[in-house]
Amino acid sequence: MAGGIGSRFWPLSTQKFPKQFQDILGVGRTMIQQTYDRISKIIPDENIFVITNKEYVDLSHQQLPEIPQENIVGEPLLKNTAPCNLYMANKIAEIDPDATMIVLPADHLILKEETFLQKVEVAFDLAAKNDYLVTLGITPTRPDTGYGYIQFVDKHDSDYYKVKTFTEKPILEIAKSFLESGDFLWNAGIFIWNVKSIIHAFEKYLPEMAQHFMACEYNAESEQSCIELIYPKVQKISIDNGILEKAKNVYVIPADLGWSDLGTWTSVFENMEKDDNRNATKQKHILTYNSEGNIINIKNSNKAVIVDSLKDFIIVDTDKVLLICPKEHDQLIKDYVLDLKNLK
Ligand code: GDD
Ligand code: MG
Repeated sequence: MAGGIGSRFWPLSTQKFPKQFQDILGVGRTMIQQTYDRISKIIPDENIFVITNKEYVDLSHQQLPEIPQENIVGEPLLKNTAPCNLYMANKIAEIDPDATMIVLPADHLILKEETFLQKVEVAFDLAAKNDYLVTLGITPTRPDTGYGYIQFVDKHDSDYYKVKTFTEKPILEIAKSFLESGDFLWNAGIFIWNVKSIIHAFEKYLPEMAQHFMACEYNAESEQSCIELIYPKVQKISIDNGILEKAKNVYVIPADLGWSDLGTWTSVFENMEKDDNRNATKQKHILTYNSEGNIINIKNSNKAVIVDSLKDFIIVDTDKVLLICPKEHDQLIKDYVLDLKNLK
């Protein structure tokens, strides 16, 4: 899935050039390329699909020349992650009605690749044999309101657990109580399911959407025009709100992956190198005094920047935007972007 605009990572991530197509951590590969590198170890190129907005089809192709061009699928409108999941499930079912698929966000960091691949194998096995919607679960470290929280039914000595409740993006008080209770995991946003199981879940919980997608045929002749026709009618909703919060057959595999959704400035901060005062800035033209825990990113390297007595802030300066906001408000950046749009 590579169709988001990464608005919480604004102003570096923009609609024209979203973060999944950027080398955010400076490792020489963009986020989507790193996602491909990881999964291509166990899935052949012809079975890898990218679903993104039609605006980013060319960009995806340029960055992932290994994937057959017809596997890069463009959506006509931004409808969040439920429609793109259903679209792909239908398309894959047309090729193989018994297929089991893995859904990967294109903007995640996974440091423990071997563990990841092992867990994915376990998940494939589970989802191929059962009518299960399988997700990977991460031990939470902070009451982050940007994630889904999974409460599971504990059963010792098992690789996987049945999910009791799934709560997408709770408010802070609830996230805090989940964290304290100790029996919740974060949803990693990585899903493994049989195409039959997920299509069935859509028929049950989002039946109108299921009908729209069922009306299309997934072949070179008619797919595109049918998709153009149905997308304006399709509900805009995430797979988490639309399916996972409701389904009764969700299972979680706890996985210690060195995982991070580089979705916000705070998560990027945590994964960047810091100076002696825990400021994340590699840029030589920035001087900091009595300041710690800041993330500072100034595009213009000719501009000298002095920061004195500032703690836990985000400062980002691009050609068009200067953002200064406390790290703990990083979930609000989405709203700032909306407000700016309304100003214009
Ligand atoms: N094709 C397509 N179309 N892709 C999309 C769309 C869309 O309309 N919207 C988002 N995506 C892609 C994003 O580019 C990203 O790779 C992935 O889908 C997930 O979307 P996000 O917008 O990043 O979701 P999130 O981070 O807020 O929440 C999800 O991930 C969390 C973990 O990272 C949820 O699954 C949470 O429950 C989970 O904790
Ligand atoms: Mg995300």
